[in-house]
Amino acid sequence: MKIGILSSGGDCPGINATIRGVGKTAIMHYGMEVIGIHSGFIGLLNKDIQVFDERNLSGILNLGGTILGTSREKPFRKLLASGDSEKPEIIKRNYEELGLDCLVCIGGNGTQKTANLLSQIGLNVIGVPKTIDNDIWGTDITFGFNTAVNIATESIDRLHSTASSHKRVMVVEVMGHHAGWIALYAGMAGGADVILLPELGYDIDKVNEAILNRARRGKPYSIVVVAEGIETPDKKRPSDYITRAIEAGTGIETRDTVLGYTQRGGNPSPFDRNLATRLGGHATELIANGEFGRMVCIKGGGVASIPLSEVAGKLKLVTPDHDLIVQGKRMGVTFGK
Ligand code: F6P
Repeated sequence: MKIGILSSGGDCPGINATIRGVGKTAIMHYGMEVIGIHSGFIGLLNKDIQVFDERNLSGILNLGGTILGTSREKPFRKLLASGDSEKPEIIKRNYEELGLDCLVCIGGNGTQKTANLLSQIGLNVIGVPKTIDNDIWGTDITFGFNTAVNIATESIDRLHSTASSHKRVMVVEVMGHHAGWIALYAGMAGGADVILLPELGYDIDKVNEAILNRARRGKPYSIVVVAEGIETPDKKRPSDYITRAIEAGTGIETRDTVLGYTQRGGNPSPFDRNLATRLGGHATELIANGEFGRMVCIKGGGVASIPLSEVAGKLKLVTPDHDLIVQGKRMGVTFGK
């Protein structure tokens, strides 16, 4: 069999470990041919590829980013620009001309949606979920998340000492447009006093009240972790709005830090390397068994898979009854309300 691998959407630590997991298993265990497709679906539109062998799959396990490059190309997005609606047809033709038996799509929500549509037009496709946001439906966890939480937690730890020295409020903005997983996990691991998630909403007066209460109890500094996706009246960076609102509402000097792309860059954690390796291996196993149109996932600690059609268009969000939220509240953490 001959398989193609591509990475699409935002990069994330662990993609290279997945490419290696798929590629080495395919070549060494199953005797398959493997090609890498550059820059996501753009590479499939242009037949921009490379051949993988055991040698060029070595030394990439611990590398951040993706050696294949990535793009946010969505071939099924209907644009008025002439020619764009032909993209799925071009991809199908190129898939056939390249002699592929299966396409492995490593990506987030948008990529899994595209993978499902490609599967519907007759391509053999396997999806591998990746995102630091951990918001892909159907899998307990995505690789990249653990690394991002480690980075964000270390930053929060560092902000603690400067916050307490200056008796300031420190607002830390972490990634997560729709889902607050990074804010919740890094916030709790970093001992944040206030954690604001897009899923829960917040009342700024309650946030200020919590910070003033801490000051009254002899704790003149506070750490506030906000996900980038929380609503704000001015639609600007949420940490900017929250910082100004806290300073105005409490009279306590307040500073903000945006962690941004540092959460996505650099080497994957050992946990994410192993997670990516397991998912990559399982993807290849599905291909060998002829089980296509599925996304590999983690369920109850083990590798599994679900139909791409069940994943497409859904998000895995934090719910208010999550035990970390329940436990945080018991210990005095404010979740904005
Ligand atoms: O990968 C998901 C994510 O990290 C989001 O949390 C973030 O908003 C987004 O990517 C930004 O990525 P880009 O600027 O590459 O579109």
